[in-house]
Amino acid sequence: MSVESLMQNGRSKLHRKRDPIYSPEDWFTEHIDNWKVWLNKFKDMPDLQFLEIGSYEGRSARWLLENILTHPASRIYCIDVFDRFTEVMTEVKERFNHNIKPYQDKVTVFMRFSQEALRADPNLFCPDFFDFIYIDGCHEAYAVLEDAVLSFRVLKPGGLLVFDDYMLETFGDPKRNPKLAIDAWLACFEGQYELIYKGWQVCVVKK
Ligand SMILES: C[S@@+](CC[C@H](N)C(=O)[O-])C[C@H]1O[C@@H](n2cnc3c(N)ncnc32)[C@H](O)[C@@H]1O
Repeated sequence: MSVESLMQNGRSKLHRKRDPIYSPEDWFTEHIDNWKVWLNKFKDMPDLQFLEIGSYEGRSARWLLENILTHPASRIYCIDVFDRFTEVMTEVKERFNHNIKPYQDKVTVFMRFSQEALRADPNLFCPDFFDFIYIDGCHEAYAVLEDAVLSFRVLKPGGLLVFDDYMLETFGDPKRNPKLAIDAWLACFEGQYELIYKGWQVCVVKK
């Protein structure tokens, strides 16, 4: 094997190592066009603090790191129960670690329930800290509502809060689906946010 082909082989292996590995489950790509518009104001800014509730294999977190959190001084905090939830999630956690590895200095992971994590460290989860929060964890209405109430407190004025799966109907009983929680939150916090978008996702800016 020539030196040139050895080098090429090495390069392609290196490249493959850095490529993300995802299962076919993709809940994120369809939202990228909206996210580009909503998050454009943050692109390349220093000192950003983003929070993601529900990271799964890191697809949305990695997109944020590659496209918005591009400044070396910007950070993302990812909360996910991963394999505390089910055994299948062990592989998911491994894929998350692999996918986030090139950016690991900018990522802090909390492997626990979001409802616990958001209360566990009042120094980090303090009022007006985060520029962007993505709620995509547990999709039972009671959990979405709790995540929303706890998240809004720690969101900065001017910061964005995005809910996924507004119209998801996993449960026959509508009282268990995200829509009830998101509508309740929107009603309770009316006047404290500007509604940017309501579709499959809901996006608000904190006043
Ligand atoms: C839909 S996936 C997230 C997808 C990811 N944001 C993306 O776009 O690629 C939901 C994730 O939330 C996590 N999850 C479910 N309930 C949770 C809870 N109460 N606290 C933290 N994470 C939770 C699951 O382990 C799962 O990885």
